[in-house]
Amino acid sequence: MTTIVVAMGEKNEIGSDNQLLWHLPKDLKHFKDLTSGHPIIMGRKTYESIGKALPNRTNIVVSRKKNWFQEGILIVGSIKEAVKFAKKIDENIFIIGGGNIYEQTMEIADKLEVTLVKANLEADTYFPKINPKFWKMTSEICHEKDDKNQYDFCFQTFEKVDVQ
Ligand SMILES: NC(=O)c1ccc[n+]([C@@H]2O[C@H](COP(=O)([O-])OP(=O)(O)OC[C@H]3O[C@@H](n4cnc5c(N)ncnc54)[C@H](OP(=O)(O)O)[C@@H]3O)[C@@H](O)[C@H]2O)c1
Repeated sequence: MTTIVVAMGEKNEIGSDNQLLWHLPKDLKHFKDLTSGHPIIMGRKTYESIGKALPNRTNIVVSRKKNWFQEGILIVGSIKEAVKFAKKIDENIFIIGGGNIYEQTMEIADKLEVTLVKANLEADTYFPKINPKFWKMTSEICHEKDDKNQYDFCFQTFEKVDVQ
């Protein structure tokens, strides 16, 4: 199973200036629960935005740069290679962004784990449109904002529709 994990606003916005747009500890925990123990694939910019390898997961970073090395991560030159390595480690792999990588992996993903943040924010990076012809929402759990989580949000799962 190849799963895309994303948190996006109401206009599909996901980031600005190579950073996230919100601080939602409940979403960070959700992300950790989903991905811990499984390989995660990300673009070089997302890796730099996080600034370190995430623990208890094989971190696979996609980059076209030559001679770029970082401690504690596997660097590969294509998404195909990233998926090939990840699948050798585990059947369940997670693609964690950013926008550029999401654009290129919607076709190969089986599932989307979306956090829909009830906000409308300025951004420079977006998630692709989720086409209802190809994706069916199978679960939705919503949470209200509180003193630690600044916006209302919903955890939504989408599964790919079999189109012949
Ligand atoms: N809200 C969320 O859930 C979420 C999740 C993740 C990221 N984000 C946000 O998204 C933004 C970053 O996204 P982004 O679109 O700018 O960058 P990105 O997708 O993280 O990384 C793009 C980089 O990945 C490499 N790459 C992309 N396609 C490749 C391919 N086919 N083969 C080899 N390398 C490839 C290239 O690296 P090189 O330039 O090194 O060649 C490219 O510059 C940040 O604002 C971040 O905070 C949000």
